[in-house]
Amino acid sequence: MSGISTALCFQFSSHIPNMKTTVRALLAICAVSAVQAGVLHVPACPEPHGVQTYAHPDLCDHYFKCTNGTVTLEQCENGLLYDGKGNVHNHCNYNWAVECGTRKADSLTRPLGTPGCLYQFGIYPEGPHCSTNYIKCAHGVPHPTPCEPGLAYDDKTHSCNWPDLLLDTCNPEAIVGFKCPEKVPAHSVSAKFLPYPRYPIPGDCGRLITCVNGFPRLITCEHGKVLDEESLTCEDYELVPKCANFVRK
Ligand SMILES: *[C@@H]1O[C@H](CO)[C@@H](O)[C@H](O)[C@H]1NC(C)=O
Repeated sequence: MSGISTALCFQFSSHIPNMKTTVRALLAICAVSAVQAGVLHVPACPEPHGVQTYAHPDLCDHYFKCTNGTVTLEQCENGLLYDGKGNVHNHCNYNWAVECGTRKADSLTRPLGTPGCLYQFGIYPEGPHCSTNYIKCAHGVPHPTPCEPGLAYDDKTHSCNWPDLLLDTCNPEAIVGFKCPEKVPAHSVSAKFLPYPRYPIPGDCGRLITCVNGFPRLITCEHGKVLDEESLTCEDYELVPKCANFVRK
């Protein structure tokens, strides 16, 4: 990156609403650059066109944005950090997904939450109990969001997961609506899939059950396929006349 002058360094700061943070950020950049180059400067944009973003060397909750060659210092919304990869909102990602390294994330110590949302942006459990929904917060507004059928929210991964992996709080049989038989009849189609025996769901052409360590998982056939009860595998529509008219809900 090439540099722009001290004068621009301060002109730049006047465009930013959050002066305190900006001045601190600029001092950091200018100081680092001054040591490196012997002059005070902030980064200039390497590309003359389009929008590019760059990590701030010291601050994980800020980043530089180049718009048609003009650089601005941007701050991630509360709860989000910059990693150049995730883009939950304005180029920033959920904080738990971001590796900051030595970049500081001071804004995380100041949650600006609202009821139901710790930070303005985040993903949260509905409560301490097992749930097939989670709360997605955007701009401080909580949006209850359902997991895919058969899954429950896992706060360790901030995503939906198989309930048999959440046995501390979840009852897979209740969520999936199926109890795995204790014995799998030998020579049955189900037994072919041991140690993960499969079962059909009566009347459902789009799904099947797989039992893992005695707990059920609901498996949805991939798009364009339906369950062939004879083989307990998902097949193309043409191969399963019984399900020819099945429409996925
Ligand atoms: C960037 O430049 C392009 C082409 O000149 C223009 O269409 C676009 O509106 C510009 N974007 C911004 C944000 O100014």
